[in-house]
Amino acid sequence: MFERVKEFSGHSGCRLFLYMSGSSYFVRKMSGHESYNQRLKKQLIKQKHFCLPMVKTPRIFGYGEEGGLFYFDMEYVQGVTLANAMRRIQVNEIEHLVELLLQSIPISQARYHVNTDAIFRRKILRISRNIGVNWEIARESLAILDGYDFSKVPLSFCCGDLTLENIILSPSGQIYLIDLLDSFFNSWMMDVAKLLQDLELGWSYRHERRNFNINLRLDTAKAILLSRLLAFSNGGEYIENIYMLLLLNVLRIIPYIKDEATRQFVDGALLNVIRKIHELKKEL
Ligand SMILES: Nc1ncnc2c1ncn2[C@@H]1O[C@H](COP(=O)(O)OP(=O)(O)OP(=O)(O)O)[C@@H](O)[C@H]1O
Ligand SMILES: [Mg+2]
Repeated sequence: MFERVKEFSGHSGCRLFLYMSGSSYFVRKMSGHESYNQRLKKQLIKQKHFCLPMVKTPRIFGYGEEGGLFYFDMEYVQGVTLANAMRRIQVNEIEHLVELLLQSIPISQARYHVNTDAIFRRKILRISRNIGVNWEIARESLAILDGYDFSKVPLSFCCGDLTLENIILSPSGQIYLIDLLDSFFNSWMMDVAKLLQDLELGWSYRHERRNFNINLRLDTAKAILLSRLLAFSNGGEYIENIYMLLLLNVLRIIPYIKDEATRQFVDGALLNVIRKIHELKKEL
């Protein structure tokens, strides 16, 4: 027998419950709607086969269906999300965490594919249909993406939604990745772009007023991440690709905007990323 202890606050299509079974805990992730079942099944498979060095994902205990809704049960990780840990983490610990994440990202296994640019062209076309003609900065972003060659974005394993809210830090310093998804294009660069969506743009903090403490930590993590990437022989090219992916990802948020904070986030983020892309062009 087991008993429901509490519900976690989730963000999108799922509900998360903490259960107690005897003296131990487990987490049940349940689809919020039948239409989400398929996506959650894919997440379960990805989590079950997850294998990256240095980082873990919660172990899967089982799965099933309740009232037509798919769920799976997994290990409960006692810890805090990195989004929360960033509020008070020692600045010198940040370097270690960024290293762990970078060592886990399969940069060297990545390979190029002849269809890559075509896949991005189709995606950009689909995004452009969702953007109002009056949103100047969004149209400018699309024009930049239209003129960019994405063929050097490599295919590789990709966590799919590597925001700081989907990274749990255990008290022993172990990193757990959750919410594993497939992206329309799986590449480690997508994961780094998602990280920058938080480190550079503050996505996970958009509903609050950011203070000096959090800005300092996000900036430090970003600077370390970028300097490590720049140390690769193709580092400049990596970074340019990653900022283009970041621009694309911010545009992908547009159809889901439901509140003013998110609309303002998108507006400011597009401006920020475009500025950064122009700076990179000057440096190259
Ligand atoms: N295995 C786990 N152990 C401890 N806490 C967890 C675990 N899984 C999820 N959580 C907590 O629940 C929160 C939401 O989980 P998750 O990211 O999987 O849901 P979500 O963002 O709503 O997912 P989705 O985008 O798939 O709907 C996490 O930020 C974390 O705080
Ligand atoms: Mg999540």
